[in-house]
Amino acid sequence: MARKVLTIIGSLRDGSTNKMLGNEAKLLAPKNLELEIFIPKGIPEYNQDVEDNLPNIVQEMKDKIKSADAILFVTPEYNNSIPGVLKNAIDWGSRPPMQSAWSDKPVAIMGVSTGMGGDSVASSLGPCAG
Ligand SMILES: Cc1cc2nc3c(=O)[nH]c(=O)nc-3n(C[C@H](O)[C@H](O)[C@H](O)COP(=O)(O)O)c2cc1C
Repeated sequence: MARKVLTIIGSLRDGSTNKMLGNEAKLLAPKNLELEIFIPKGIPEYNQDVEDNLPNIVQEMKDKIKSADAILFVTPEYNNSIPGVLKNAIDWGSRPPMQSAWSDKPVAIMGVSTGMGGDSVASSLGPCAG
């Protein structure tokens, strides 16, 4: 049975090059890997006040993360970091305490950026969500 890889895109832009890269990875993946593209559009800003009653869209994202065998982040670099949309998704996924959807999940990260350093900073941030 194919392993499921949730492929989380860090750019919401319609013409996103990172979305294109994710789609290419999906096409080129070996038969034993099934990539599902996930664009965190509509994920709200992280707010600890509501983490005991997660918004539906956040719960759905957490369920997708939990049911995946692995995570592939495909993200541009924004201001020498990862984009805010991706950071919010990571923060929501890690909460509440002891209920992180990221726990024990193998993660890879790649991306396209137009700056001099390519995507080097974003790609090396290695989301650590426990
Ligand atoms: C707010 C913002 C900040 C950016 N900061 C960086 C940066 O620090 N380093 C870099 O290489 N590119 C930076 N860029 C350029 C992006 O890497 C480039 O626009 C990239 O194509 C965006 O990815 P996308 O095509 O998937 O939307 C920035 C772009 C934006 C909009």
